Amino acid sequence: MIFKRILVVIFVLTAIPNGFVSVIYCQNDDSAIEEKINDLLGQMTLEEKVMQMNQRVYGTNANPNNIDLLEKEVEPEIGSLLYRSTSPIYRNQIQRKAVEDTRLGIPIIFGFDIIHGYRTIFPIPLAQACSWNTSLVQKASAIAAKESWLSGLDWTFSPMIDVARDPRWGRVSEGYGEDPYVNSEFCVATVNGYQGEKLSDKFTIAACLKHYVGYSLSEGGRDYVYSDVSSQTLWETFLPPYEAGIKAGAATVMSGFNDLSGIPVTANYYTLTEILKNRWKHDGFVISDWGSIRNLVDQGVAKDRKEAGYKAIMAGVEMDMVDDVYVENLPALVEEGKVPMEVIDEAVRRILRVKFQLGLFDQPYVDVVEETDRYLRPEYIAVAKNLAAESMVLLKNENDVLPIKPGMKNIAMIGPMLKDSVHIMGSWDGMGRSNDTESLYEGMLNEFGKIANLRYELGCDFDGNDTSGFKQAREISKNSDIVLLFLGEKKNWSGENASRASIALPEIQEQLVEILHKTGKPVVLILSSGRPLELIRLNKMADAIIEIWQPGTAGGSALAEILSGKINPSGKLAITFPQTTGQIPMHYNQRKSARPGIGHYQDIPVGPLFGFGHGLSYTDFDYGEITLSKEKIKKDEQLIAEITVGNNGSYDGKEAVLWFVADPIASISRPAKELKFFEKKQIQKGEEMIYKFVIEPMRDLSYVDGDGKRYLEAGDFYLEVGDKKVHFELID
Ligand code: GLC
Repeated sequence: MIFKRILVVIFVLTAIPNGFVSVIYCQNDDSAIEEKINDLLGQMTLEEKVMQMNQRVYGTNANPNNIDLLEKEVEPEIGSLLYRSTSPIYRNQIQRKAVEDTRLGIPIIFGFDIIHGYRTIFPIPLAQACSWNTSLVQKASAIAAKESWLSGLDWTFSPMIDVARDPRWGRVSEGYGEDPYVNSEFCVATVNGYQGEKLSDKFTIAACLKHYVGYSLSEGGRDYVYSDVSSQTLWETFLPPYEAGIKAGAATVMSGFNDLSGIPVTANYYTLTEILKNRWKHDGFVISDWGSIRNLVDQGVAKDRKEAGYKAIMAGVEMDMVDDVYVENLPALVEEGKVPMEVIDEAVRRILRVKFQLGLFDQPYVDVVEETDRYLRPEYIAVAKNLAAESMVLLKNENDVLPIKPGMKNIAMIGPMLKDSVHIMGSWDGMGRSNDTESLYEGMLNEFGKIANLRYELGCDFDGNDTSGFKQAREISKNSDIVLLFLGEKKNWSGENASRASIALPEIQEQLVEILHKTGKPVVLILSSGRPLELIRLNKMADAIIEIWQPGTAGGSALAEILSGKINPSGKLAITFPQTTGQIPMHYNQRKSARPGIGHYQDIPVGPLFGFGHGLSYTDFDYGEITLSKEKIKKDEQLIAEITVGNNGSYDGKEAVLWFVADPIASISRPAKELKFFEKKQIQKGEEMIYKFVIEPMRDLSYVDGDGKRYLEAGDFYLEVGDKKVHFELID
């Protein structure tokens, strides 16, 4: 070993002509990372430091919302690349230039948007939340990390954990729904899946919590605009998933495009430094969103790029995503004394720390394996199928029309989603390929092809006004035992910059449902979408409705096996389906009305069409009474709650039990109820399982004020599970 170290010392000294250079930082040993960072930082010029704070794109950028940046020749001193190639060889070639052809040999960190899979595409995150299966999501994230690492990546801009309550906003598809606790739990599962045990291990990648913070309240669901978030809501709703992610060790954070009460989050010292760094002690770094530093000029808080750069760095954004504001302006701002060198040093320290934690100095290169070993392995597809199946939500099943009964031999399959293998991958589908994706049609053929007479008609396109296909669709429906209608959204109708003024499906699709409903045959609606849909009219015309979301690579067999009864659906909504677009915002944990029971819209039914937590099964799960370890607890005591759930139906199944707490009287008005715990278990038919929730008063019964201070007040509380509700008292 000593011989190797001597070699390293000699190599470094000869490779660096100008002056003596200490060799601590490149020693391939376990000397503390901080010592290495200090050693390296002490040798860096201002230009080298600023280059570390810069990310550029490598490869053609396929995000249609960010086309203003062309591919650039890579400068090897660059801190990071948004890497749009799938080649580990290219990556290693670029990395070799950085490590061997630059003065200090600082490796590049390669990042990319792996949101729900890299080449094996899993269901969109909103769908994953509806599975209530965090361990399966962790598995899927670990697979995504491995496929990405083997493609040359060290870092993903994921998970997106913006609590979303306005489905007009297209990015509801990218997060984990309307509840802070659900977003927190799936954030932790995803971070753990990506980062594994140790960031320096092979096949692990750094996570990035985004879009910090409050972006999902972008007014009216229109993307990129201001978000009016009260300070109490900021702490009660939008910050908790980020705090959970930081506690789970997320290496990086991305600041968003929105503002908080007029101060853009990319220039917001309170959130970026006071909360994230001073209170939560985050020791990684913050990257801006694409151009969100230069956007400070558009938002009217910076007169030019230089002032934008100044505001962002002083607020606590360490890396500039692709707009070159830092590289153009920071050296001058330091030389003019406006930005202290300590601020630059702290930013670079954070970036270097993540690079050291990733092991990039010791292992700057990734293994190059055959594509067949890299992607879409059978075990990956199995996880994708399970997660797709567990995320699908049976919204309606009138007269148990599903699963399709053996006697139903003639099955009509109609609609534009049936043979599609593009839109069912959803937005942000990584490097997924449609020809790797099993269509719903293929799934149906595999499951039913030998036992039923399957007939297909397109019926209509996703939109437009061509009704010429209706006639044939009606014909095959009239001669069928059951009509399966495969409808929904194109992939670019949700995701970034995909806001919609209406969440209803295009009229042509609704007309097709009406035509087929009039045949009198049982109609099953299979909906693939990136958001909740307006179903107030379709609900009356369908006997059964399944929301399959955008299920990814293995959605076809997942759906077909649910339709055949081989898989018992277990998904439950993590986001509310309002009656109509006009009813938005409509989420379960709204604060209580001053006049309960009135004040609702007069022209639609009260309450949502399908509420948070709604999801049917083919079996009957019967909930017993909630039992409590005590009637009264002190603030420093735990309360143990249990409930027995019996499977009294004819199918084995999985059941997610959701535990809600209600605090009817407090110093501030509290939400009607709040989800505080959930757990999903398999219950065989005829058997029962006990579910337990251990209540920690400060964690589960307190509320937070507008600066994050927690209050725990004695008084009456209720615990709710399903239709069961039990009272207990918190005493001083
Ligand atoms: C986009 C998105 C962000 C993404 C980034 C890089 O504009 O807002 O979620 O990670 O740019 O693609």
